[in-house]
Amino acid sequence: AYVISEPCIGTKDTSCVEVCPVDCIHPTPDEADFDQRDQLYIDPEECIDCDACVEACPVDAITSEDQVPTEWQRYIAINADYYKNV
Ligand code: SF4
Ligand code: F3S
Repeated sequence: AYVISEPCIGTKDTSCVEVCPVDCIHPTPDEADFDQRDQLYIDPEECIDCDACVEACPVDAITSEDQVPTEWQRYIAINADYYKNV
């Protein structure tokens, strides 16, 4: 799966949402909790590793799970946790 890390915080550009073919990036701007979230999250169960979101993000917040920088490793769990109670 792919993971959204720290650069998304304060940016939330949402270009990634538009290019994802399986709509596995949430919350989208029309969802109720969009404004309450610091960043967006990728559903690790739904992501098909297509790589489209990586180029779309203007702040390079997205990497594949096995390429998340050491200092951002916690974001693997942060992305997955968003989907735990859905
Ligand atoms: Fe969506 Fe593809 Fe990015 Fe996974 S890698 S979140 S499927 S755009
Ligand atoms: Fe965030 Fe980049 Fe998407 S800033 S919302 S990961 S396009």
